[in-house]
Amino acid sequence: MPTAPESGSPSPTTAQREWWRDAVIYQIYVRSFADSNGDGEGDLPGIRERLPELAELGVDAVWLTPFYVSPLADGGYDVADYRGVDPRFGTLADFDDLTATAHELGLRVIIDIVPNHTSSAHRWFAEAVAAEPGAPARSRYIFRPGRGPDGDEPPNNWESIFGGPAWTRLKRPDGTPEEWYLHLFDPEQPDLDWTRQEVHDEFDDVLRFWLDRGVDGFRIDVAHGLVKDPGLPDIPEGQKAGLLNGTNRLPYFDQDGVHEIYRRWSAIADSYPGERALVAEAWVEDAQRVARYLRPDELHQAFNFEYLNAEWDSDVLRQVIDGSLAANGVVGAPTTWVLSNHDVTRHVTRFGGGEDGLRRARAATLLTLALPGSAYLYQGEELGLPEVTDLPDDALQDPTWERSGRTERGRDGCRVPLPWEGSEPPFGFGPDGTVPWLPVPAEWAGLTREAQREDPDSTLSMYTAALRARRGFAALGDGALTWIDAPPGVLAFRREPGFACAINLSEDEAVLALTGELLLASGKVELRGGALVLPADTTAWLSIGY
Ligand code: NOJ
Repeated sequence: MPTAPESGSPSPTTAQREWWRDAVIYQIYVRSFADSNGDGEGDLPGIRERLPELAELGVDAVWLTPFYVSPLADGGYDVADYRGVDPRFGTLADFDDLTATAHELGLRVIIDIVPNHTSSAHRWFAEAVAAEPGAPARSRYIFRPGRGPDGDEPPNNWESIFGGPAWTRLKRPDGTPEEWYLHLFDPEQPDLDWTRQEVHDEFDDVLRFWLDRGVDGFRIDVAHGLVKDPGLPDIPEGQKAGLLNGTNRLPYFDQDGVHEIYRRWSAIADSYPGERALVAEAWVEDAQRVARYLRPDELHQAFNFEYLNAEWDSDVLRQVIDGSLAANGVVGAPTTWVLSNHDVTRHVTRFGGGEDGLRRARAATLLTLALPGSAYLYQGEELGLPEVTDLPDDALQDPTWERSGRTERGRDGCRVPLPWEGSEPPFGFGPDGTVPWLPVPAEWAGLTREAQREDPDSTLSMYTAALRARRGFAALGDGALTWIDAPPGVLAFRREPGFACAINLSEDEAVLALTGELLLASGKVELRGGALVLPADTTAWLSIGY
């Protein structure tokens, strides 16, 4: 087989530092990271106390999931006040302290912004509900009369991502039904109407509010959803979108108008000193559509959900890797790589669970961290945490559980509080006696950070070594890769200068003609007589000379 051409290309702008091009960004799910006051929910002071441990791990930045004032109908992605910290997570002063500490430790801080919808507890929505149909206060959201003779059918057939119709009908205090409002997610998350200038102005101001406080960037929630086809047309049967899965073009996702919004946001971010980064959560059709969000005057990064959703198969992965690098290369943007987040089953479990799942997860991590570009880690993956699949029904909080008629358990299993130390749940998540908002499994005693720190074979030690190597090795991070010939089921590539990575996704041991110095491996590998012997589901990093 001929050697493949180089994939991806360094951008013309790499001369500038642009920290986000190769950053490893660690996602903190605020409610489940560390609880400083023992109320069972993580908080900003808890995060601040633990930041040195993230600096020790070797990440470049943290991304905080929403900590704003919220009824938490959707874990905080239902914001009631975009400029306030929810009291259960702390105060604005706590946020400022956290940011200052992060910066002292050399960590950047990215926060979430949720522009597609507010909480139904937001002042604007209360005003809309109190107003009459057609009143200006209603025009900030998407209200419409119903269909059918009595208006008792929803305005169109769109479905909520969490199940059920995407429309809810308002009732007057005396019970008389009136208009419907759109919510692509939970009924407690009404969609904003981005044709209104007031909505644009409000978010410009919210961005500035946090940029003024020193944030290094924003992760934009449902970045592809803000603009709807103005006709609000019905969608074809069976075309509903699934969370993080954008295989169909829909009249409420990926409309051209969203790009205008990001050009403006990019200009706002650029008007601040330093390099502020904007990352899109955009689950759109394919890598080319994702890349449109990354054109030079738009956003800096987008999550690579095609990579996250890829099967454990060498051909599929190679195709996704090549496709992402090529699409992003066209617009000069770095590619990101992500395996887990707060919306998906943790990858140890996705890859089969148990020892097999962990072995593959470790291999996938070393692949991820060797690819050109930037990587996102989700809290707890550095400990090899699996999904918790047996949470009691009455503990479940994800709206998916109720909206699906209790048929889909939702995303709580990847949001279980982190185990830090000690031998009893909740393992130092909070002060002694803390009852965490979701129960922490007793079996995690061996997975605490404390239990793994001194063990050279632990998953934590592997992550720490990989992140150290990423900093030490010029070949890693931004740049290009060159595929190396490899047996079926194996992917191998070079990064210049002098680095190679090989992953065996097959079920059998593989032997590759590759020599050099072994830098790191996810399992037991051997360099024998000019060849690399790679067991199944294992990745190796090599220094191969210049
Ligand atoms: C994507 C977020 O990651 C998810 O947690 C949330 O439910 C939806 N957007 C709605 O905001």
